[in-house]
Amino acid sequence: MPAEIRVFAPATVANVAAGFDILGFALGQPGDEIAIRRRKEPGIVLHNRTDFAAMPLEPSANTAGVALQAMLAHLGSDAGFEITFLHKIKPGSGIGSSAASSAAAVYGANYLLGEPLTRQQLVPFAMEGEKLASGTAHADNVAPALMGGFVLVRSYHPLDLITIPAPPLLHCSIIHPQIELKTEDARKVLKKQISLKDAVVQWGNVAGLIAGLLREDYSLIGRSLHDVIVEPVRSLLIPGYDRIKDAAMQAGALGCSISGSGPSLFALSTSEADAQRISAAMLDVCRACGLQSESYVSGINSQGVRVL
Ligand code: HSE
Repeated sequence: MPAEIRVFAPATVANVAAGFDILGFALGQPGDEIAIRRRKEPGIVLHNRTDFAAMPLEPSANTAGVALQAMLAHLGSDAGFEITFLHKIKPGSGIGSSAASSAAAVYGANYLLGEPLTRQQLVPFAMEGEKLASGTAHADNVAPALMGGFVLVRSYHPLDLITIPAPPLLHCSIIHPQIELKTEDARKVLKKQISLKDAVVQWGNVAGLIAGLLREDYSLIGRSLHDVIVEPVRSLLIPGYDRIKDAAMQAGALGCSISGSGPSLFALSTSEADAQRISAAMLDVCRACGLQSESYVSGINSQGVRVL
């Protein structure tokens, strides 16, 4: 076993339009990278070598720290770990920044302990990091970050995670407008009650999307990428949202919606060339709106977190 390993944990797209809190998938890039090693003494020590100076390094205030503490408590282990954050997805981006840190930490520590837990068994501990970051222990980012591909959270109590293989042609364009939107704040704007009429539309789309993924039916995937509950409220927090989405659809996207709690948008398509064209069209609109943005084009990451 090497003394120190490097771990890459991918960015993730949660919700995937209609599946608020119950569906997500992992991207090939970007992602978080950490170095992790065992310490001789118990305790968790964190170092930050990323571009984000504001990261708390007290383990109980850090998403990766609390996730690792929860895992060690479960194992009854007094093993100590030193983690250096080397590369970080921008916090507040909507592509699972806190999830990637938590996933990398628990996966790396589990690896160095000889893998007493499976990837799936690591999910509840990484969810503790989400609870710290957003106030809610949602699994739709951490589960795909750890397990790869698409993951459906069929139930939270008890936790029931269903992996869904990604159709091979599927590609994703991510546009990340450079504004910070905290998940906690983006959850506060949501209505606590929804109409039965909207619920019927929404669960039709969730079921259609799952069927489309399983049948590799790209047209059905596209028809199902609609969210009548969360997107209408949250899109108001993202400047130029409707125009950026229109550009994606006109450029040939199967569908486009908010990635996680935003401000990033994702669009799905069936080739890298299409994803690049869609990304360029979305960026053009961002520029026209005076909205500085970053973009990523990626296939679906079927592996999830990995040792480099
Ligand atoms: N399901 C969560 C939300 C994902 O939309 O608030 C946050 O990335």
